[in-house]
Amino acid sequence: MKKMMGFITLLSAFLIYAFIDGYKTESVEGENTLPYVGILQLVSHPALDDITRGITDALEEEGFVDGETMVLDFQNAQGDQSNLATMSSRFVNREADIMVGIATPAAQALANASQDIPVILGAITDPESSELVESNERPGGNVTGVSDLTPVREQLALIQELMPDVQTLGIIYSSSEDNSIIQGEMAEEFAADFGFETETMTISSTNDVSQAGAALANKVDAIWVPTDNTIASAFSTLVEQADAQGIPIFPAVDTMVQEGGLATIGLNQYELGRLTGEMTAAVLTGESDPAVTPIQYAEEGDLFINTKKAEELGISIPSSMLERATDTQDEQESE
Ligand code: TRP
Repeated sequence: MKKMMGFITLLSAFLIYAFIDGYKTESVEGENTLPYVGILQLVSHPALDDITRGITDALEEEGFVDGETMVLDFQNAQGDQSNLATMSSRFVNREADIMVGIATPAAQALANASQDIPVILGAITDPESSELVESNERPGGNVTGVSDLTPVREQLALIQELMPDVQTLGIIYSSSEDNSIIQGEMAEEFAADFGFETETMTISSTNDVSQAGAALANKVDAIWVPTDNTIASAFSTLVEQADAQGIPIFPAVDTMVQEGGLATIGLNQYELGRLTGEMTAAVLTGESDPAVTPIQYAEEGDLFINTKKAEELGISIPSSMLERATDTQDEQESE
């Protein structure tokens, strides 16, 4: 009998505990049982989509599986500034454990929304000059992550190698993106070393791409494009305008070469995403502290050439270069 009583006491204690616990998890707002991960992507374009895929793949490999070991709240702002603000406060209200910002304007919105919740940067050109961290070496706050600063100088060298007669280089980017302003200034500065004159055109939305692209193509021998989210969202429009005047585009990333640019030395976007996912996992497990974790950079860039575009434009590619290049048209076919 005594034994029986003991068992019943134990059983009721367990039931009461289970009830309270269940009550806690179901009805107390903001108390997350699984780590809550908010990912904010500025807009859909092929490069950012690759980055997001890299992040979720790496998170999964590190043991963070949506619905099982974490809650993944993925939001896409569709390029809209007010969406960025709303979605950032949504994460903060839900007491996210970590937030990941893909592209500079998204990361800036997250960093504005919280000074406590860790923010991981997904392929941000220059966190320091975008005022996201105190310094890229020692971030100093709740923000750290991955930079995708492109090898601008190598890209200009590639232009000269493929088109030794280029005199005027066109540069086009959105004046509302800090990431592009930084790269645009770099390109203008480096251009002198290659003997290029520059012609710079800035746009303020995707609506401007067609007209600005046509006007620019009319004045230059080749166009260089940074990792600009606005242009990336309307890249085919720029290609149409440049093609109409037989002007090649040298973009900063392979995804744009695939869409009709001529060539680049660019960073693998998916790998940048993976690196971001790994840093996210390390901060989630407490292994890394954003304040003292330096901004990470990807390995060197790879050479990408669109051989179909080269043919259309009548630009011959030296065979030594073709041997070490990835032809983006092959990539497309094998996908
Ligand atoms: N670096 C960009 C930023 O900081 C984001 C980005 C990554 C991007 N890869 C890209 C933009 C490719 C255009 C194309 O906002």
